Amino acid sequence: MMLSAADLRSGYATGDVLQDVSITVEQGEVVGVLGRNGVGKTTLMKTLIGLLPARAGQIVFRDQDVTKLSADRRARLGIGYVPQGRGIFSHLTVGENLRMGGLINASTRSLDFDLVFRYFPFLRERLTQRGGTLSGGQQAMLAIARALISTPDLLLLDEPSDGVQPSIVQEIGDFIKVLNEEKGLTVLIVEQNIDLMQTVAKRAYALDKGCVVASVNREELMNTQRVASFLAI
Ligand SMILES: Nc1ncnc2c1ncn2[C@@H]1O[C@H](COP(=O)(O)OP(=O)(O)OP(=O)(O)O)[C@@H](O)[C@H]1O
Ligand SMILES: [Mg+2]
Repeated sequence: MMLSAADLRSGYATGDVLQDVSITVEQGEVVGVLGRNGVGKTTLMKTLIGLLPARAGQIVFRDQDVTKLSADRRARLGIGYVPQGRGIFSHLTVGENLRMGGLINASTRSLDFDLVFRYFPFLRERLTQRGGTLSGGQQAMLAIARALISTPDLLLLDEPSDGVQPSIVQEIGDFIKVLNEEKGLTVLIVEQNIDLMQTVAKRAYALDKGCVVASVNREELMNTQRVASFLAI
């Protein structure tokens, strides 16, 4: 088991958002999280990486209880995080953005620039260009590359297709698929783009109002109407 979250509760000053959320991700899997706007998908990802504390429940990463560990400790253990909206530093260059991704893990994890350039060769040519001048799709790839550079075992991806041209969305899906197949990268991905979800995920959890309301297997995931039912009101 790569990741196991049991009975997670978390939220904000305004109250709890997640209610007893339990999910598992096995090594080598790509697992999706579905749900319409505001149901708690990002809250779940922030709780898993440690930017929000769990108010109840337990998070286990590779046999280790990480529930009380800080986000940077979890990152050093091998959890990568690509936030919704990507969090690219638009005034820093592509190279600086990549090194920022590595900084947090620099003490214990090596930075694999070769890996990043192998999968995203365009970044090598744009190392001195400012992050903010890249297209939406290129920024999405830079954000993934920034997480990959410290060679995580598990990647948490929060809506990578957000703000990306439809023609590039498929390309992002292909990258995730190749990274999973070639590097054995385990992925938990939040996504509302059905095509992208169907391209990459083996199964998914559907969230509604902070609760897991369904576990969706591969067959159901390929049923576009079924998936759409979790995304519509
Ligand atoms: N910083 C915050 N403080 C208070 N409430 C918040 C905060 N961030 C999110 N919320 C609320 O928590 C709920 C869940 O938000 P969350 O961002 O997890 O949803 P989401 O499923 O990721 O939505 P989206 O698809 O729009 O990204 C929403 O009602 C939202 O308004
Ligand atoms: Mg969100």
